[in-house]
Amino acid sequence: MAAKHESPTGRLGVWIFGARGGLATTMIVGAHAIARGLTSPQGLLTETELCDGIPLAGLEKLVFGGHEVRRGTLLDSAREIQQQTGTIPYPLLEKVKSAITKVDADIARGSLVNAGRTIQRLVGNDAPKVKTLRAELDRTKRDIRAFMKRKRLTRCVCVNLSSTEPKLRLTGAHRSHAKLTAAIDADRRTAVRSSTIYALAAAELGLPFIHFTPSNAALVPGVTECFAANGTPYMGADGKTGETLVKSALAPMFKYRNLRVLSWQGYNMLGDRDGAVLSDAENKQSKVATKDALLAQILGYPLHTHVGIDYVPSLGDLKTAWDFVHFQGFLDYRMSMQFTWHGCDAILAAPLVLDMVRLADLAARRGEAGPMGHLACFFKQPVGDIGHDLHMQWHVLCRYLESVRRGD
Ligand SMILES: NC(=O)c1ccc[n+]([C@@H]2O[C@H](COP(=O)([O-])OP(=O)(O)OC[C@H]3O[C@@H](n4cnc5c(N)ncnc54)[C@H](O)[C@@H]3O)[C@@H](O)[C@H]2O)c1
Repeated sequence: MAAKHESPTGRLGVWIFGARGGLATTMIVGAHAIARGLTSPQGLLTETELCDGIPLAGLEKLVFGGHEVRRGTLLDSAREIQQQTGTIPYPLLEKVKSAITKVDADIARGSLVNAGRTIQRLVGNDAPKVKTLRAELDRTKRDIRAFMKRKRLTRCVCVNLSSTEPKLRLTGAHRSHAKLTAAIDADRRTAVRSSTIYALAAAELGLPFIHFTPSNAALVPGVTECFAANGTPYMGADGKTGETLVKSALAPMFKYRNLRVLSWQGYNMLGDRDGAVLSDAENKQSKVATKDALLAQILGYPLHTHVGIDYVPSLGDLKTAWDFVHFQGFLDYRMSMQFTWHGCDAILAAPLVLDMVRLADLAARRGEAGPMGHLACFFKQPVGDIGHDLHMQWHVLCRYLESVRRGD
């Protein structure tokens, strides 16, 4: 266990799978900008009094690298965001330009394993070829180790921010680490996806892992067993940033007043590359599953729910959700509530990822292993049994931070 208030020394590696995506780019630009005082740390919980006295890595200590399957540079991605959504202001981008250009040297070619037709199409003819699954797993680990050596890092957190994959059918091959590695050695391509290779690489290297996407191929039992065996913390799945965040805050209110929710209809419109990937029914299935599961769990009874997701290219990264809640009160009288949410995806998600990188590093330094239940409030489908109620999840995080402050 770390001693009370022991501050981390040295720099912290952040290895991102999907390193030039919209979210990854916004996060890297944002971390550099905040560290240099060019913008405020708004959105980051780890920069509020909640984390006073908690020994977290400084933002200026973060060193980024990762895997990406599309060609181009990080600056290209940042310019695209600047031009399409304006969330990265031009003057700010000019000031961090040279710092983010250097990150490209630490972005390696990723793996594209059983990725499904839409992700494959996104990358085009230039898609990286897979020799064998074993070679992909070994290369992934080698790339991360080489990054840590090059940058003289003793700590590194891995984060999956790559495109949402189609759902993987889980079988006996996923049940244990031994069975999963046997399937990899037998080169059974349909048994894994890229996210399985990435998560397993982190687990085998004993590096903390944050699974921010809904892809179900990453945290399969064979992978989580390996995290446990190596005494390494991990958490997922699917960042809770928009409509589902609002749902998980509002649904408990109906419970607190014994108002019975009859139906909860949600409709989401989103643009950008993530939206294009999710417009494929195969990939969308993974997302709908994580967005739909929480209501019955929070309320404690079955109800009619529906989550629709449509791709509206002109929206870019600005997502709109409309929710209609039909509920019943005293004398069985029926009433309704509606809300709309206009959020910018990457702006909502980037600070969460930075918070979790710092908290996952803290957990690893404290010798914690397995699912980081205290990070449940950041996920649509949190691993473990903490549940979906945002208020409960918040108290779990506060209690955890209090125990760190006490030096437990
Ligand atoms: N609010 C949010 O932004 C939010 C919330 C929850 C979950 N997510 C998830 O986070 C992920 C990233 O979102 P985004 O908006 O940045 O999407 P994006 O499409 O801009 O970025 C994904 C990146 O991953 C890359 N990629 C795809 N397959 C890869 C592979 N096998 N190896 C390495 N790179 C690969 C793509 O080329 C792309 O650059 C998505 O899966 C999304 O569903 C985002």
